[in-house]
Amino acid sequence: MGKRGDVFLVIDIGSSKISGVLGEIKDREIIIHSSDYEPTHESITAGKVIDLEKLKHVISTLLNKLKVKGVKMPHEASILISGPYLEPRFSKGIASISQTTQKSQAVETKHILNALEQAKQIHLPKGKEIVSIFPSAYYVDGEKVKRPYGMLAVRLEIDALVLTGTSTHIRNLEMALLANNVKVKEYLYQPIMASFGVLDPEDLKTGILLMDIGKDTTDMAIWQDESLIFTKTIPTGGEDITLDLVDVLHLRRKDAEKIKLEHGTADPESVDKHAKIAVEIYEGEKRGISKLEIAEIIEARVEDIFLEARNVLQRAGFINVTRDGTVYTNGISVGVVLAGGTSMLPGIKYVCKRILNLPCLKGKLRWNKIPSEMKTPAFASLWGAIEYKYRQIKEDPIGEFDPRSRVKLWVQGLKDFLKSNF
Ligand SMILES: Nc1ncnc2c1ncn2[C@@H]1O[C@H](COP(=O)(O)OP(=O)(O)OP(=O)(O)O)[C@@H](O)[C@H]1O
Ligand SMILES: [Mg+2]
Repeated sequence: MGKRGDVFLVIDIGSSKISGVLGEIKDREIIIHSSDYEPTHESITAGKVIDLEKLKHVISTLLNKLKVKGVKMPHEASILISGPYLEPRFSKGIASISQTTQKSQAVETKHILNALEQAKQIHLPKGKEIVSIFPSAYYVDGEKVKRPYGMLAVRLEIDALVLTGTSTHIRNLEMALLANNVKVKEYLYQPIMASFGVLDPEDLKTGILLMDIGKDTTDMAIWQDESLIFTKTIPTGGEDITLDLVDVLHLRRKDAEKIKLEHGTADPESVDKHAKIAVEIYEGEKRGISKLEIAEIIEARVEDIFLEARNVLQRAGFINVTRDGTVYTNGISVGVVLAGGTSMLPGIKYVCKRILNLPCLKGKLRWNKIPSEMKTPAFASLWGAIEYKYRQIKEDPIGEFDPRSRVKLWVQGLKDFLKSNF
């Protein structure tokens, strides 16, 4: 006791807000020193930087909010990202552990690194780069295992998710961070982290779909047999609902957003048909808008979001829609868990259930020491990253952190590690 731990910084880049946690790993426990968020003020759209100077300022404000007396702010951070500009690809890596079956050897970190390095050998179009790599399943001599480290084996195989992205977008984000004296330690993929944020580890075994519906994007991740087997981001989210209210009801954006948050529902059945709300329009005039009309506009857009998701799942083979419109799912046994700010919309789960023909739940954050203003599914990926770190510390029986964290997953980190260790 009394020994200083490892102070860490996690920053989640969303389209509506940037959030962060300043924490410390000490005596194999996680201590949270501070957590906060700052609206992006339109410096990010669909995960991409669109106003660099503004973003620098937003990050600076967030870092100031996170400052805690007596805790030195780290100069590197785990950065959570997502967006249609990123392309996740599944790849396989293999490493030989020993030459002969008679003389099997134990799997060491270097073997895991070698297999991951091999998984990274994918064709990259010009202007794209590998952003991170996430091992989703390990096989020792053909048998799936949870953690291969220390196991006797002849051959190790890893199924990995290789996240690739447009280099210029990544550099722009890094510029905004560097301007604030923050280097990227690793990139973490939001759909994976949001899964850790809200999914019950038991449910990962049987097949479950996570949908994080944010402002500009909807992230999906499917887990089966404790492995990530599919992930995709679609460019639609809560902002489309707001903009529909703007278009149909001729409102200012900020009024439409307010109406959505205060009176919005995707379930017209739950609304009093005669109820109206007074909205101030230009020049101080007031107008009465029917609550039912609002609910119908919202319901239509929410249906579109789930239909778009359904199409993606259909193309990937997880959903089959017959000619008469019956929806069958394949491999998503438990159902859907919703996260993201838009999942707080009343009635959303009925639409989800209807379109995907699956049980649908609103996700609850698993991390249990969260300040009340951040205890919402909008922060699923941020707190999921903390949950993920925690499991890495706790689940490792030999006291070595899982290579997922020991090896810096950010490509440069991986290279540095290889250089200094082999
Ligand atoms: N109670 C609520 N009811 C309906 N919508 C809500 C509610 N609270 C937040 N939202 C919507 O959630 C969206 C923001 O969600 P979230 O914070 O998850 O997005 P983000 O992570 O910043 O963005 P993205 O994931 O698209 O990059 C906004 O469109 C906002 O209007
Ligand atoms: Mg988000």
